[in-house]
Amino acid sequence: MPGFELVGKEEQAAVNEIFEKSNGVVFAHGFDALRDDIFRVRDFEKELAQKVDVDYAQAVSSGSTALKVALKAMGVKRGDEVITQSFTFVATVEAILEVGAVPVIVDIDKTLNISPQAFKEAITDKTKVVIPVHMLGVTAQMDEIVSIAKEYNILVLEDTAQGLGGKFGGKALGTIGDVGTYSFDGGKTVICGEGGMVVTNNKEMFVTARAYHDHGHEYSTTKGRGVEDALCTGFNYRMSELQAAFGLAQFKKLDYILSSQKVNQIKLKKAIKDIGFEFRTIPDEDGDIGDSIVFYLDTKEDAKRFATKMAEEGLGTKNLPDAIKWHFAKHWQHMFREYDFYNDGKNHWEKSDDILSRSIALPIMINMTDEQIENIAFKLLKIAKEI
Ligand SMILES: Cc1ncc(COP(=O)(O)O)c(C=O)c1O
Repeated sequence: MPGFELVGKEEQAAVNEIFEKSNGVVFAHGFDALRDDIFRVRDFEKELAQKVDVDYAQAVSSGSTALKVALKAMGVKRGDEVITQSFTFVATVEAILEVGAVPVIVDIDKTLNISPQAFKEAITDKTKVVIPVHMLGVTAQMDEIVSIAKEYNILVLEDTAQGLGGKFGGKALGTIGDVGTYSFDGGKTVICGEGGMVVTNNKEMFVTARAYHDHGHEYSTTKGRGVEDALCTGFNYRMSELQAAFGLAQFKKLDYILSSQKVNQIKLKKAIKDIGFEFRTIPDEDGDIGDSIVFYLDTKEDAKRFATKMAEEGLGTKNLPDAIKWHFAKHWQHMFREYDFYNDGKNHWEKSDDILSRSIALPIMINMTDEQIENIAFKLLKIAKEI
């Protein structure tokens, strides 16, 4: 999902424009006499909302703060339970802790996303929200998740940090549940340095998200910013004009990014189709953004050997297994030891552990040449024979 591969003169020109036309106004609000009507944060919100076909978008300072703002907007309070999956980036659980809620972390299945069954079994009368995470740009099983959530009156927050541009049943990931979040950090499909977005069709939730991300500001259209009221408590999770200008220029490349990584993913998958391992279960092949290819070895020892041989051949993996510590709850004792859950040193996610420890994720780059793809495939097939 590397938008960073395409950073170039368009992003540079967009940032320069802030100096040339907007007199260096980098704050998203006010300075009307200086800024020549340039509001890049607003533009970014508008373009993203149009693209994913949603009523409201709120730009924020990161994908992590997007999750926190979203949980606040959804009315999550201290002591509420929020269910999410064991395989995600640590930020999903950090955001739950930030709002004072209790993370209930459940197993994944072979989609590498939340197991609908595990979600259902974890529901209690304190469950307020479920967060499916579309890991590596592949949708969670949203039909089942939404239907269970509806049955138990639970709100759905889609952590789409890794899934911008992905779809499920033709609908953009991030817009299927009640609220969705995106990230534009340096490793994502579209990047802007640091940044995130909260999207929803629910006006009330949007109004709370907008207020909470900016010290509670009511965003009055008649009163000035200095004299308007606060709707709620809040904090500063605003995006700056520089981030938005950069992000907007990147965002215009989204279709190209998605189509080229998908083409490369299909080529590589075809070239290794006879590798002899089971591939990740993909609930909606057309909606997969083409970020990676994951397959499962028979044992964790085989997977370790496979990854070692890949490294020897100069091939990298993506999160599985290279950055697993940041993506699997089993490794987050640094966090849990401050709380009275999951702090017993036990492995609460044996099913996930089994799947993850047998997984190899191959990164797909936008700028891969056919020759590089053939070379990667050749090396992978060779390693597979040696295992
Ligand atoms: C699934 C997931 N959620 C949330 C985040 C947090 O995004 P950010 O780095 O923009 O704070 C990330 C970033 O890696 C992520 O992968």
